[in-house]
Amino acid sequence: MTTYRDGNSLDIPVLVSLDKQLFPYSPWSNGQYREEISAPTRRFIVALDDALNIIGYAGVFAPGGAEADILTVGVVPEHRGQGIARTLMASITEWAISQGSIAMMLEVKTDNLAAISLYESLGYSELNTRKDYFGSGLDALVMRKELP
Ligand SMILES: CC(C)(COP(=O)(O)OP(=O)(O)OC[C@H]1O[C@@H](n2cnc3c(N)ncnc32)[C@H](O)[C@@H]1OP(=O)(O)O)[C@@H](O)C(=O)NCCC(=O)NCCS
Repeated sequence: MTTYRDGNSLDIPVLVSLDKQLFPYSPWSNGQYREEISAPTRRFIVALDDALNIIGYAGVFAPGGAEADILTVGVVPEHRGQGIARTLMASITEWAISQGSIAMMLEVKTDNLAAISLYESLGYSELNTRKDYFGSGLDALVMRKELP
């Protein structure tokens, strides 16, 4: 059974290693995670398997009274297609709403069809594209969803 809990600084080595696998084009360093994971305007949620290994994670920046930015969402390949990303998205969105966020924003690589389908299914719409956002030749689609 998949369970969920808040991410914390002890998770950083695992998250750094998973980032290299899931986001080879823009992995976060130890230092980036250290800065982000403890900041009060950020929230990280991790998904765990039966052995309590991290199999998915999501993070959001929600300063309150403005747009919230999704920092990351990833699920290891062996556990995809089971609704884990959907649950992680619901959890960070609920927290952003509780912080007074007015909308959710994210950047996704334009060729990442699985993620774009996920976001469209959750009510996100395409705002614009940012050329070379993830590096040379790696464009991002900016997506947004209004919050109640
Ligand atoms: C994108 C990703 C997070 C989806 O994780 P997941 O746990 O498999 O997603 P879920 O099972 O919660 O799927 C939810 C919805 O997303 C969409 N979706 C997920 N994977 C899909 C795929 N391969 N093709 C098309 N749609 C897909 C579907 O709408 C799906 O709903 P459905 O199952 O009712 O059809 C995962 O593929 C991943 O980690 N990819 C690599 C990292 C990444 O690209 N993250 C996003 C960065 S912006």
